Amino acid sequence: MNSDERVAKLSCISINGETALYGVIGNPIKHSFSPRMHSLAFQECGINAVYLPFLINESQLPQLLNAFVISGVQGFNVTIPFKEKIVPYLDLLSDEAAMLQSVNTVIRTDDGWKGYSTDGNGFIRSLQAADISLKGKRILLAGAGGAARAITVSLALAGVSEMVIVNRTQKKADNLAELLHSAIPNLHINTILPVDLQTDIVINTTSVGMHNDDCPLPDEVLRHCNQVVDIIYNPPETRLLKKAIEWSISHMNGIDMLLYQGVEAFELWTGQKAPVDTMRQSLIDSVYSGSATNHSPKKSS
Ligand code: ATR
Repeated sequence: MNSDERVAKLSCISINGETALYGVIGNPIKHSFSPRMHSLAFQECGINAVYLPFLINESQLPQLLNAFVISGVQGFNVTIPFKEKIVPYLDLLSDEAAMLQSVNTVIRTDDGWKGYSTDGNGFIRSLQAADISLKGKRILLAGAGGAARAITVSLALAGVSEMVIVNRTQKKADNLAELLHSAIPNLHINTILPVDLQTDIVINTTSVGMHNDDCPLPDEVLRHCNQVVDIIYNPPETRLLKKAIEWSISHMNGIDMLLYQGVEAFELWTGQKAPVDTMRQSLIDSVYSGSATNHSPKKSS
């Protein structure tokens, strides 16, 4: 059976009195690729569970976790704009989520609701899956928002030797550098575009290229790097990636980061290895079928 046939077969869901409930909260949420991806993953692994989108308002957050206890929700994802806002309502946080004060995955445990951030690990796993090593590497990263925070913390923990963070708003890059420096004092970190442009890996975490054909970094920087990663997945080929292709530089878009943050969440909830191929196929179908609406975030975070 090829993967298309497998996905088609798995689409016939059976639900009964013991079906467990998972989901994703956000606003807007109808664009989300996660319900299809996770429901297919549960089916593939023979887990009796479904995953639904929950459109909520900020004013509903204080009652949300009680409502989830009553309705038997076992775990859920958190997307824009609630990743930081959910934190005060949780009982426990993983070390990474505590450091970032941001959560994208929540599990119901015996001690209460525990929040995790799988964006950074998802990013690292997407690089590992592409055989991109990080130890001792020099990184140039564009952006200093929520995605940049999660990714830079994980990169620092993965052993990169030097990081340059550039951002439209300089103060935010400086604040992020300070946060990283306090957590990992040995890391060489800078927030000014260096004169010596030689870089191993260039990473875009900004939204530049998502709604237009702009490039977040100057050509001189790109010409001097070995690998380009754009965490935007829709469009799958941004201007930045088109330049990498033109100059024969290895490149990757954000689909695999999106995939692996979901893989990490699935594994946290179930304790089982996630069916990566089925999940990837589901995401590729969703991205290329154009099912993302104009309101959807198209960046992996
Ligand atoms: P996310 O959580 O997805 O990272 P975010 O926290 O809003 O989203 O961060 C968006 C990032 O894209 C920021 O680094 C932002 O730069 P500013 O800090 O200056 O706002 C960057 N960004 C967004 N639009 C941009 C643009 N037109 N040019 C340059 N950078 C842009």
